[in-house]
Amino acid sequence: MPLDIVVGAQYGDEGKGKITDTLAEDASAIVRFQGGNNAGHTLVVEGVTYKLHLIPSGIIRKGMWCLLGNGVVLDPRVFRKELEGLHAQNISTDYLRISWNAHLIMPYHVQLDHIEEEGRSSKDSIGTTRRGIGPCYSDKTARTGIRIQDLFDLDRFAKRVGTALDHHRPRLKEATPSVEEVVEEYRDHREMLLPYVEDISPRIWKLLSEDKLVIGEGAQGALLDLDHGMYPFVTSSNCLPATAALGCGVPPQAIRKIWAVCKAYPTRIDTVGPFPSAMPMGEGIEQVLIDRGGEFGTTTGRRRRAGWMDAVALRYAVQVAGITDLVITKIDVMGDLPLEITTQYSIDGEVTDQYPTRLDHLYKALPINEEHPSFSGDLTKARSWEELPKNARGYLERISSLAGVPLRMVGVGQSRDQIIPVGRNND
Ligand code: IMP
Repeated sequence: MPLDIVVGAQYGDEGKGKITDTLAEDASAIVRFQGGNNAGHTLVVEGVTYKLHLIPSGIIRKGMWCLLGNGVVLDPRVFRKELEGLHAQNISTDYLRISWNAHLIMPYHVQLDHIEEEGRSSKDSIGTTRRGIGPCYSDKTARTGIRIQDLFDLDRFAKRVGTALDHHRPRLKEATPSVEEVVEEYRDHREMLLPYVEDISPRIWKLLSEDKLVIGEGAQGALLDLDHGMYPFVTSSNCLPATAALGCGVPPQAIRKIWAVCKAYPTRIDTVGPFPSAMPMGEGIEQVLIDRGGEFGTTTGRRRRAGWMDAVALRYAVQVAGITDLVITKIDVMGDLPLEITTQYSIDGEVTDQYPTRLDHLYKALPINEEHPSFSGDLTKARSWEELPKNARGYLERISSLAGVPLRMVGVGQSRDQIIPVGRNND
């Protein structure tokens, strides 16, 4: 029963979409199990760019089941746009299905996300994507959420919307929409969504029982996990692979491999939260990485911050995520730059190689870095491990050995053929 999971090992934006797409070659289905349109995937196939936020990246492969599990939160406005975009690019959505247990992002969730984020001081800001993700998951746990299946009966839907609006009125105040307005809008969404909805789990059970490969496509990254990330600077769902079983309704034993994707230099969105291996923002190498790497959010357009490869955080991710196979992307961006890896932190003068799960310690953590010789040349044309410069290989091997996980693929660019397989030689 092979369910292989692809997760981010850092703070999101590691290039998971491309890796999912590569692994999809042998798969029958791709399933998203958490998050919503706070994620963003860019795929370049045969010179054509596809930007996706919600729909799994397998959609551009003919006959590939693309599934959205119950753990996902779905904004119908965004879904509609994405569908239209795909259809305009002649991509079929016949194999797309959505769990009717997935929660709907409602217009008031987006309003609440704005109100909450704007109400936070700059120090406490979480820098959310303002897509309504947090308020939607809050409603889910408060049992005031609206599931797709509530659309089957519009009277019941209206009642549930009324209850949710009563709950949120004190914060929405005069911006509270009327039940009628919401129902009117969702009547249209209903027509668009219904052809795609079903109970997803039996479809996945069937594929797994036929020994077909299913890929779970994680969104965000290990350090943004609601429980094990740097709370409160995290997303509002669990994004570690253990969530995959719950988020698409399959037994945890189905999980076989856990592919972790990490970027050759980590980035973190915005200026919020601790980032121990951060480089000084806007200066020298950091700015070069941002410019060369195009480090602006696919979803929000915001500038990211860049840092040195952080092996302390990566080892922690390996532990909490159960990573079995490592992929490092964007090594091409680091040509002719100094290479450093954070191997330990100093916290109040104490040196540790353990990632601190106390936020106050994380804020105080100072990186202790080891230096590696830089490499030059255009790596984007390399198509095999041997074609990579020796110093680039040395850097990558060191990361893999510090993580304690074999390196399986290296990314040297945006397109499909720029993913280099790495043999089993460095197991
Ligand atoms: P939310 O997921 O919109 O609630 O945002 C919570 C935090 O997670 C913010 O710091 C976001 O910038 C971050 N975040 C959410 N999704 C992503 C992602 O796909 N990549 C990187 N950061 C993300």
